[in-house]
Amino acid sequence: MLGLRRAFAALLPLPRAGSPPAAAMSTLLIRQERYAWLRELGLQEENPGGNLEDYEETVKKAKEAWKVWADIPAPKRGEIVRQIGDALRQKIKVLGSLVSLEMGKIFVEGVGEVQEYVDVCDYAVGLSRMIGGPILPSERPGHALIEQWNPVGLVGVITAFNFPVAVYGWNSAVAMICGNACLWKGAPTTSLVSVAVTKIIAKVLEDNKLPGAICSLVCGGADIGTAMARDERMDLLSFTGSTKVGKQVALMVQERFGECVVTCSYFNFFKVFEDADLNLVIPSALFAAVGTAGQRCTTARRLFLHESIHDEVVAKLAKAYAQVRIGDPWDSDTLYGPLHTKEAVKMFLDAVEQAKQQGGSVVCGGKVINRPGNYVEPTIVTGLPHNAPIVHTETFAPILYVLKFKEEEEVFAWNNEVKQGLSSSIFTKDLGTIFRWLGPKGSDCGIVNVNIPTSGAEIGGAFGGEKHTGGGRESGSDSWKLYMRRST
Ligand code: UN1
Repeated sequence: MLGLRRAFAALLPLPRAGSPPAAAMSTLLIRQERYAWLRELGLQEENPGGNLEDYEETVKKAKEAWKVWADIPAPKRGEIVRQIGDALRQKIKVLGSLVSLEMGKIFVEGVGEVQEYVDVCDYAVGLSRMIGGPILPSERPGHALIEQWNPVGLVGVITAFNFPVAVYGWNSAVAMICGNACLWKGAPTTSLVSVAVTKIIAKVLEDNKLPGAICSLVCGGADIGTAMARDERMDLLSFTGSTKVGKQVALMVQERFGECVVTCSYFNFFKVFEDADLNLVIPSALFAAVGTAGQRCTTARRLFLHESIHDEVVAKLAKAYAQVRIGDPWDSDTLYGPLHTKEAVKMFLDAVEQAKQQGGSVVCGGKVINRPGNYVEPTIVTGLPHNAPIVHTETFAPILYVLKFKEEEEVFAWNNEVKQGLSSSIFTKDLGTIFRWLGPKGSDCGIVNVNIPTSGAEIGGAFGGEKHTGGGRESGSDSWKLYMRRST
């Protein structure tokens, strides 16, 4: 099934590398009443992980499984994906709880990303009856000119900690109906989510007398990621993560002439013109900057305000920030939870320090919150120039740089002057500005919003960005073509 044997460090509240299993056992969450639901996800005291030997075995099994899967008609593959969506629906609350526990995002966001996977399953079911290529007019008499789409084979999917369910869902549901087997490597810090999701899928496959290895999993770190990137048996590799790692992965894949979809580093922008409806702007900016504690790839990091409304918006936003309910991610009242790791807290503090050194003023936040967990204050920094180095540096934390502009032309240029290009938003009622924003000299991002926040992208559209964001597209629209090869 998973093709994995090595035990993964099980559910420790404070996992410490190298602590002996016996000592660890007494603190296992899964043994505590409050966490008994973890067993509903098939998790055990020790959960499978992976090493390079396991990786070898897993790839072989996934390749074998592909032979079975590729022979199944696409609509029938869609039916299996429909069942996966249903199985996820049944576990949506427990799985959402595990996302919240392991990643740290608030419970509704944990459930929300399982819902995204469910939605993309529905989308893929429909797609399984619709994908096709054209029959073109041949210039030769009595000939047919056909473009047929075939699966690529084995799709490797490397995902990040911040969306430990949804991003795999976007890739795997679509890749599956296209006729591919998948090999997933989630983030090393969200392995239990990967194991739980894979168990749900494996049960559906095996209940249908299909090999569970159609959706295989390897838990591991850079060693496994590198093996996947270098491995010629990985017919397509989809990577989501930092630009630094994304570049290494893309180069390794390129070197073997492999196919790669890379979605990495993100630097998202939000521009508010003087005619914008501030009743929309304030909650949207708050949601985009503070949601998921600033750890979405679509999080707004720069907020450009027209100089005529700058002070008013900053004051209103600071007031809204003060009302954000910070707390335990499992509490239904909480809107804002902790950062994922201690390193993230350090990066947050470093960025705030650099922002100050470069001339910024911290209007609110800027500090670590004195409570257990990796909590930091949601932070607004004003007064920096558009080209301050820190404004062009992505910190995966809730820091919003608020900047002033005068003219449309300059703010469009500032939008596009950073290396990344995932998501962007504009707030205005002016139709001319809106259409210029959408057009060739407007936003150069993959996601170009009008009067809605940078985050919260829908599954039905192609998701991804330009420049150092990698250029790949996942999920909806015609992204399915990436998971297939064209036979003319
Ligand atoms: C990511 O952060 O990797 O736009 C994906 C959103 C999500 C996608 C985020 N649907 O908020």
